[in-house]
Amino acid sequence: MRAHPSIPAPDLVLVASDTFGTSLLDDVHRGLAGQRKTLPAKWFYDASGSELFEAICELPEYYVTRTEMAILSRHLDEIAATMPPGGTMIEPGSGAGVKTRLLLQASVPATYVAIDISRSMLELGAAQTARQFPSIRVVAIHADYTRLDRLPEAVDLGDAARTLYFPGSTIGNFTPEETRAFLGRVARWLGPTGSVLIGVDTKKDRAVLEAAYDDSEGVTARFNLNLLARLNAELDADFDLARFRHRARYDEALGRVEMHLESRVDQEVTVGQRRFTFRAGETIHTESSYKYAPAEFRALCAGAGYECSNTWTDAAGAFAIYRLVRSASATTITPHRTGDGT
Ligand SMILES: C[S@@+](CC[C@H](N)C(=O)[O-])C[C@H]1O[C@@H](n2cnc3c(N)ncnc32)[C@H](O)[C@@H]1O
Repeated sequence: MRAHPSIPAPDLVLVASDTFGTSLLDDVHRGLAGQRKTLPAKWFYDASGSELFEAICELPEYYVTRTEMAILSRHLDEIAATMPPGGTMIEPGSGAGVKTRLLLQASVPATYVAIDISRSMLELGAAQTARQFPSIRVVAIHADYTRLDRLPEAVDLGDAARTLYFPGSTIGNFTPEETRAFLGRVARWLGPTGSVLIGVDTKKDRAVLEAAYDDSEGVTARFNLNLLARLNAELDADFDLARFRHRARYDEALGRVEMHLESRVDQEVTVGQRRFTFRAGETIHTESSYKYAPAEFRALCAGAGYECSNTWTDAAGAFAIYRLVRSASATTITPHRTGDGT
């Protein structure tokens, strides 16, 4: 871990994780060599990908962001009251932090920890939060949150009550098994008294879901194709973006929207000295976004040792925010003190 002192905002510390585990090149070689080609969704978020994601949040078809914001605004005091003042808020996948700053207006923790794989958006979002809330100590961690077993030593959170804030239905990018594993892992960041505030998209009409991931302006298509542009720029790959098209499809049986990049023609592409063959119509699966009925999501959390103390939703039930606490039977985990080497 390295501290970066040069961030132009009050009381903001940036910590870079060296523990990304897999490199972009390894992930691409592994993902494109398989029978069914895949690429991990986390690699969407270079500077352009992060900006395109912010543009997606503004689209009329992408009901996710505005519905979650509306639920948050409507129940702000009640939601904020679940977060003890003077505590710590930890946000994996913090991005631009727009929802975060709404929440912080009603509940002011002593420390806010932002974690993101996108260095540019992490710096931007965390700096804006630090400027708007000068009384909060803001710590920004550049890391892959799926690989962060414990928070870095520099964070030093002491014993203050911890809340994990995970909005945006980012949890939907995990499979149900990965969701259980992730919730189990973050229990170590939180300790037995910590809680989770999480925004999760619900199941709904196929046309609504597919339009949200395939908008009429083509912004989501640009977001998906940007992954290939990133491979060209960072790995000297030779993808011709015009020879691929964006696809989004709801798989009702699995309860997930899948995004793919479909090859328009038979072709070969080189990435880092290796050649990969694509048949016309063959796809690279780039993202899954799981949708959960409330009862289904609560059952999934129960399997990870959490019970749901509150659910907030909109009138149509298009999105839900849950507060999770550790189940009595799961609270044998001792809080992890950063820096104690345990
Ligand atoms: C769907 S966006 C949500 C952003 C924001 N929290 C919101 O609600 O609008 C996902 C965010 O998580 C980050 N991210 C995705 N995978 C990640 C990973 N494995 N580790 C750290 N950050 C990740 C992305 O850079 C992006 O900022």
